[in-house]
Amino acid sequence: MKVGVFSCKPYDKAMLESANSDGHLSYTFIEEPLTPLTAIACHDFDAVCIFVNDKVCGETVRALADAGVSHIALRCAGYNNVDVDEAKKLGLRVSRVPAYSPHTVAEHALALILTLNRKTHKAYNRVKEGNFDIQGLQGFTLHGKTVGIVGTGRIGQAVARILSGFGCTLLCYDPMPAQSVKALGASYTDLQTLLSTSHIITLHCPLNEGSYHLINEETIAQMRDGVMLINTSRGGLVNTQAVIKGLKSKKIGYLGLDVYEMESELFFRDHSLEIIQDDEFERLASFHNVLITGHQGFFTQEAMQEIAAVTVANIRMPGENNDNFLAP
Ligand code: NAI
Repeated sequence: MKVGVFSCKPYDKAMLESANSDGHLSYTFIEEPLTPLTAIACHDFDAVCIFVNDKVCGETVRALADAGVSHIALRCAGYNNVDVDEAKKLGLRVSRVPAYSPHTVAEHALALILTLNRKTHKAYNRVKEGNFDIQGLQGFTLHGKTVGIVGTGRIGQAVARILSGFGCTLLCYDPMPAQSVKALGASYTDLQTLLSTSHIITLHCPLNEGSYHLINEETIAQMRDGVMLINTSRGGLVNTQAVIKGLKSKKIGYLGLDVYEMESELFFRDHSLEIIQDDEFERLASFHNVLITGHQGFFTQEAMQEIAAVTVANIRMPGENNDNFLAP
């Protein structure tokens, strides 16, 4: 089978190759993203393998179908960038890796919380330069604080388990409550109560029509003064202009992002010698209490191995695990 691997980085290539040691799949590794334009050139592929910022809108899906591609294999969990309905209509398979390692992303959310709070990134730089002054590095004790978890699926549950170990009070919001979270002593509540009560709010729900800009001026206004907001889920959950306002007014006291709504223009590439044109991103990055990572929540050795193994299995044996298939 011939597979076009889009948005491909050296680490993707290494993992996908090692998951295909018998050479059953024949890969073409392509650095460019899959878009309506690059989809036109997919005549040679039976399947395309894509990542979070490939633009698989209706136009791309139709171009893939015209080119004879039969399978869109996502090497990630979220699928908000794929027009699944159009794929279903045209008979294309769409697979993903729904549960490679929820702990991996949960641990990254914790890294953002702990770094923002205890300012270890600033301490590292100070000590490197021989500055041992701790003025300005004061944090707060996590034990006993209330953390609001929006979305308690696989990753939200892993976050809940970790934070319960820290001695936090857990408030959760999810239309489908999880028994395992209740068993930790967490309570489910409505979104407004979660927003108005939590010292820390962490987002773990998918991006869809219902959750787009879930964090906006109105919902930020409901939060506690000085709240810590963490988003490791998808950038579109957060209205960037609204959080900039919230940071300027000090309503938001800490912001930790692994995802950003316009990230497809920036993330996963080195722009260090360019002038970044995205003024909203630059404004965000300028705040001393904002910590941004470039969508690396998934990026551990264990998760990458699992992603590659499941992606290869999805392409080779599409009938094997229906839970991984969004279409047909
Ligand atoms: P999941 O499907 O196991 O859980 C999602 C949960 O969110 C479900 O329980 C669902 O009922 C709930 N939900 C849906 N809409 C909601 C809403 N409007 N408000 C509150 N809860 C809602 O998904 P999983 O594996 O936990 O992943 C969550 C998200 O994390 C993914 O959709 C993906 O966007 C993101 N992600 C980010 C990664 C990164 O590298 N930063 C890596 C992997 C996933």
